[in-house]
Order: sequence, then C-alpha cells, then structure tokens
Amino acid sequence: MYINFWYPICESAELGSDAPVSAQVLGTQLVAFRDSDSAPHVLSNTCVHRGGSLSKGLVTDDCVVCPYHGWRYSGDGKCQLIPSFGDDSKIPARAKLDSYPVQEKYGIVFAFLGDLPEGERPPLYEIEQFNRDSWRPSAPVIIELQAYYQRSMENGLDPVHNEFVHPLQGNLSLNMDALEFTDLDWGTKLYAYMDQLDKDALELAHLQGKPGELGAGSSHHGPNTLITSIDLSVDNNFTQIFFEQPVDENHTRIFFINVRNCMLEPDKDESVKNINVNIAAEDIRIIEALSPVRTPDTTTKEILIGGDECVVGYRKLLKEWEQRGWRVDMAAMRENEGDIAYAIPSPGRRESGNWVLDPIPLMPGAGS
Ligand code: FES
Ligand SMILES: [Fe+2]
Repeated sequence: MYINFWYPICESAELGSDAPVSAQVLGTQLVAFRDSDSAPHVLSNTCVHRGGSLSKGLVTDDCVVCPYHGWRYSGDGKCQLIPSFGDDSKIPARAKLDSYPVQEKYGIVFAFLGDLPEGERPPLYEIEQFNRDSWRPSAPVIIELQAYYQRSMENGLDPVHNEFVHPLQGNLSLNMDALEFTDLDWGTKLYAYMDQLDKDALELAHLQGKPGELGAGSSHHGPNTLITSIDLSVDNNFTQIFFEQPVDENHTRIFFINVRNCMLEPDKDESVKNINVNIAAEDIRIIEALSPVRTPDTTTKEILIGGDECVVGYRKLLKEWEQRGWRVDMAAMRENEGDIAYAIPSPGRRESGNWVLDPIPLMPGAGS
C-alpha cells in the first residue's frame, strides 16, 4: 500500500450534515464530515485526547465532536473547543489532527492520503467522458471483496483471464497476438484490437473523432485506480472505472463507476449495473481464493509470461513509488497492531511539528 495518492473515502450520498462517516484506508482510521457549507472534510479518526473514535461522535458548528469528552475539531484538523477547560484557557498547539486534501467528484468523496505539497501530487483520475454529451455515467456502486487490493488491480490488467473467468463475454474476438502496451504518466495501458476490423475501419473511427479505438483494454492510474474499456463499435463503448479503497491487507472496497455511450435510456441503468456486478462476482470468486493472499514481492515465486506484461508494468511503477519512500511498511503495522494508533502524514506535517500520533511506518526509499 502506498501513501501520496487519492483514495475514495465514502459516497457523497452517505455523508450528511449531522453525522460523521468512518472509513478505514491503508489500515488506518479516518473520519469524514461536512461543514455547514456542505464542504466535505477528511481527518484522522483518533482523538488526540485519549483515543476516542471521532466517527462515533456528532457534527456541531462545523466541527466533528469527540463522543468521549466533547473535544471539537474543525475541518483543518485543529481542536477548537475543549469543554472541560475554562473559557479563557488556551487550546494546546498539539491538539490537532491530520487533515487531508479532499475532492468530491463522480458522487464520491476522495482524499489525498499523504503529505506531498499540492504541486507535487499525482492527480485524481479524470473520467473524461463523465460530463460529455451522449455519454451516461452511472452512480457509484460499492463492491466489497475479502482480498488484497493489488490482487484485484492485477486481475483487471490481465487480458488472458477473460476467456476463462467470464465465459459469457469470452474474448470479444480480440487479437491477443498484437497486444499494445503504452506507458502513461501514472500508469500502464494495455489494448487489444478486434480481430475482424481492418486498419481502414480503425482510421475511420479516428477521423470521425469518436472516442476510443475498437477493441478492449485496461489501464491503471496510480496504485488503486483501474480503467477498463470495451469498444464494440464507435457508438458502443463501455468504460468501467474502479477506484479501489485498500481497507487493510485482506479487504478492499471498490467504488465502481460505469460510463457508456449506448443504452442511454435511464431505465437501462439497472441492467447495465447488473451485468457489471455479475462480471465482478466472477472475478471475486477467483481473487478471494488466490494464494498467497498478498501478491508476492518477488518474481521468482510465480511464472510470468506474455499477457502478464501489464501486471509487470504495474509492479515496476509500484517499485518506483516504493523508492520514493511512499510504500507502507505493513509488517511493522501488523507488529504494533493494538499498541500504536497511526496516522497517515498529511501536508500539515510539513508546516508544523509536535504531532501526537505516530506517522504510519514507511519502507525506506532510495534516498534514505
Ligand atoms: S478522547 Fe476525545 S475528547 Fe477525550
Ligand atoms: Fe475479470
């Protein structure tokens, strides 16, 4: 798992104005709430007084209120009120929580879980088709799996499993001998063209300015966003975006959005959703039974062959992010479970010191 990327926290619809919402991401506890302007905020969930769980409290006066002794924290993470203090007592400077940059998009509240300054942050994945004319986006659908998120990501980047795991969809007559791999800014893309189409048909599609090629492919953006496109014709495209929330090493919640430029009638939403959920169930059955649970950290305990190139590309990028010092040391977290409440470092840690909670342990990067 990696800090310094955008992660889905909760659905917009579940975040009301009076009750906070809890989320566990990268093995740490977070709380989300809305202020009176409806702006969402995401903070570390552990009250720095004596460890109360803020998500079990209330939202009052633009603050999340700890249910234990009533300390109040505003969206910037600063403690604004300690009820047992007299009126002119000063709030200690250490009474602050990590507060994460937030974006609300596609019906999802996302937080940037890391401490990079704004200009250096990898971007949240942009769903270009989301607001385009003649495209229809779905509401988010939550898919839960009892599996490590990297297993799910790699499954999506593997074109060969389709024929075996999804017998109804088969391989869409894709030409698997001519897979195309492209390096992206924060990811790797794989595309397979349809067998029966000649080059002229493809060129025509481009000349018409229609999005997508004709075939199917998938890509990842960062460690936890997976994009799958199926382009059956220029007017018949389905794109699935999985924003994956690594809950812990054994659980993943996927915030799934579909965009399509066919079957645009609202009454088709349910059947499109059902098809996708059924396909996901076919994957989950396989992914939850993989061994070991977490992807091996070496290439010698698997046999990687052609068709696994995109998986290899993904792992290469994960290594690069590890070298930047962004990889969470899960073994250290496991070892201290129950003894230490960790917080993912927020950008605020670069501006002030004296934080109560330990930062999440990270693997040493190349420079350390
Ligand atoms: S533990 Fe939160 S106010 Fe005491
Ligand atoms: Fe699949």
